[in-house]
Amino acid sequence: MLTSLASHQRAPVVLTGDRPTGPLHLGHLVGSLRTRLQLQEEARQFVLIADLQALTDNADDPAKVARNVMEVAFDYLAVGIDPEKSVIALQSYIPSLCELTTYLLNLVTVARLERNPTVKEEIRERGYERNIPAGFLVYPISQVADITAFKADLVPVGEDQLPMIEQTNEVVRRFNRIYESNTLKEVQAVVPKVARLPGVDGKSKMGKSLGNAVALSASPDEIHRAVERMYTDPGHLRIEDPGRVEGNVVFTYLDAFEDDEALLEELKENYRRGGLSDSMLKTMLDDRIQAVLGPIRERREEIAKDPGYVRKILREGTARAREVADATLREVRAVIGLEVLDGDTL
Ligand code: TRP
Repeated sequence: MLTSLASHQRAPVVLTGDRPTGPLHLGHLVGSLRTRLQLQEEARQFVLIADLQALTDNADDPAKVARNVMEVAFDYLAVGIDPEKSVIALQSYIPSLCELTTYLLNLVTVARLERNPTVKEEIRERGYERNIPAGFLVYPISQVADITAFKADLVPVGEDQLPMIEQTNEVVRRFNRIYESNTLKEVQAVVPKVARLPGVDGKSKMGKSLGNAVALSASPDEIHRAVERMYTDPGHLRIEDPGRVEGNVVFTYLDAFEDDEALLEELKENYRRGGLSDSMLKTMLDDRIQAVLGPIRERREEIAKDPGYVRKILREGTARAREVADATLREVRAVIGLEVLDGDTL
């Protein structure tokens, strides 16, 4: 699938994660879940349920985070993340990630953290102004720890996460320079064709908290209503009027969910020329999304009946992930030179 894979001597390592703050939605599916399904076939993939990161802006509602750990796990299994092929792990059960975060925090300035565009936007959305939880401001470094603890080569993410990857590589270079090592590895983002699915209201990003998301577990009726609400071209009043394709949310979604590219090009042409109705396009999109989410919903219902099985998968995955992260931490402590109590030299 990826030309970059050919340049790796061994199977590349992939690391990604999601915050368990709500069930996953179509934005996650398009932004990174579909890439993960491909990568698990050819790479050594770790998928992290990032409950510590979720807590950085939900400290007053830990129950929400805890509850959604299982929801996200159900979503993973329902879309086809296969525990035989991918390691699914729970962040807060891997203490070496916190330890690595502590070391890495010394390699970044507050000014640099404040410049991260994703964090900036999130601060604005949450209305923090100057009252930013310190943990929230530094979560990108905890994410650097997630990525580097596994020595990931590739990180499949949506466009909004690109600043995190840039920041990861900055920290990695700094670490390796200061401690004269090549212990931590630079990473590459894997961004899909449609890298950012807008919310159904046309706002830039789909987000549960923004109320414009379609959950992977959405009912047929919820999908239908979301498509109905979808923003098109406000200037396209009558069928025969020429319409705009760029910035038209329905077309962005069709780009993500209609595989027949020739058909899609033809539809775009017709729409631009005039003569194609919004309702026809919406019916088509509704069908596509129903076809994608129908089987996911059914599998999810089955999986959710057996939370014990899901917890077992998480326990096993977390134990494996812990071994890998712990091994990196031993190396990190060695290159920093913090082994005062080890050995018999003192
Ligand atoms: N920040 C990511 C999100 O909001 C979640 C995440 C946590 C992540 N750790 C990661 C993504 C490591 C990629 C790699 O969805």
